Amino acid sequence: MLTFRGPRMFVARLDSRAESAPLARYLLRAYLSGLPSGEDYRDTAELLLSELFANAVQHSDTPDDRRIEIRFDLADSLLRLEVHDADTALPALRTPTPDDEHGRGLRLVDELAERWGCAYRPCGIGKFVWALIAPATT
Ligand SMILES: Nc1ncnc2c1ncn2[C@@H]1O[C@H](COP(=O)(O)OP(=O)(O)O)[C@@H](O)[C@H]1O
Ligand SMILES: [Mg+2]
Repeated sequence: MLTFRGPRMFVARLDSRAESAPLARYLLRAYLSGLPSGEDYRDTAELLLSELFANAVQHSDTPDDRRIEIRFDLADSLLRLEVHDADTALPALRTPTPDDEHGRGLRLVDELAERWGCAYRPCGIGKFVWALIAPATT
């Protein structure tokens, strides 16, 4: 499913598998290419979408809904990414030790996003994680 809502909001539902991540990034690039300032968000947005998407794949093993919804929007010069999955558990920022293999994804999100957070989905089971990204200053 692919929807444009209003001038700037984009919504798509992808199969919940790691192989969908390149498609998610492709859709993001296509979305940004339609914005005058889209390139300014690209690197950070791709990185953060990749992390959030990977987390959603890991945590959406509920039989009810095996899809991941991604949403992109632009308001007040901030790019908003949302990644929805069907797991009701919420993400938790970890403090990895140098030897830890896990717990760095949300650290990156926390460092690079202007703000981020999560909320239960208003419609449907599960929650979404959102991040606001400012344009790169060159
Ligand atoms: N979409 C999600 N649903 C449920 N829990 C999540 C989700 N994303 C992250 N988490 C929780 O937050 C923790 C930190 O995420 P992250 O920093 O990406 O580390 P990692 O993915 O390497 O475990 C995860 O270990 C997991 O417990
Ligand atoms: Mg992760």
